[in-house]
Amino acid sequence: MLCLVSPTDPAWVDQATSNLGALLVDHAHCEMKAASNALSLAARHPDDVEIVLALTELAKEELDHYQRVVKMIMARGLTLSTPPVDAYAGLLRRAAHEKSRHPKIEKNAVLVDRLLIGALIEARSCERFKLIVDALDALETGRDPEMHAFYTELFACEARHFRTYVELAKRAGDTSDAVEARLAELAEKEGNIVRELAVETFRAQVHG
Ligand SMILES: [Fe+2]
Ligand SMILES: [Fe+2]
Repeated sequence: MLCLVSPTDPAWVDQATSNLGALLVDHAHCEMKAASNALSLAARHPDDVEIVLALTELAKEELDHYQRVVKMIMARGLTLSTPPVDAYAGLLRRAAHEKSRHPKIEKNAVLVDRLLIGALIEARSCERFKLIVDALDALETGRDPEMHAFYTELFACEARHFRTYVELAKRAGDTSDAVEARLAELAEKEGNIVRELAVETFRAQVHG
């Protein structure tokens, strides 16, 4: 899906749908991280109006999602715990520092990588939200209509956020082909990380 090279293990879907409360709690943390990451990128590039406007708009949407997830958590009598260390995002950032196989992007290379990492995180959320929707569709009993409607809406948002990040990266990098090659390279690394994390920790997480 989108640029992803490694699909999520179907066993993850069983884990997530059998513990929708844990999924919601992890999801809340992801929305907050998505908002703060977008804001921190916008804050670092105040001279780039397109980045500032696109990413503050995206952050507003992520905060709206965050509030809605928190309300769902409260309504279900669950507790929003402290977020665990984000191994997935940490490994992704570290992987971006490894030597590249592709010609170096000369212009704004660090910014391009940060935008592409944002794109990959959105792509993985999009894939997993769609898996949740399909799994809830397949349930004969116990389908959760609120979760179904929510994840159907969010799956489309994540696809849009993915495109926003890729477009901003292409614009910042000034060379569309090189940015696409770099996205493919990072997507391969992302696939390896997801597979490694699935072996180590198999929980109802939106990422990893
Ligand atoms: Fe979101
Ligand atoms: Fe998003």
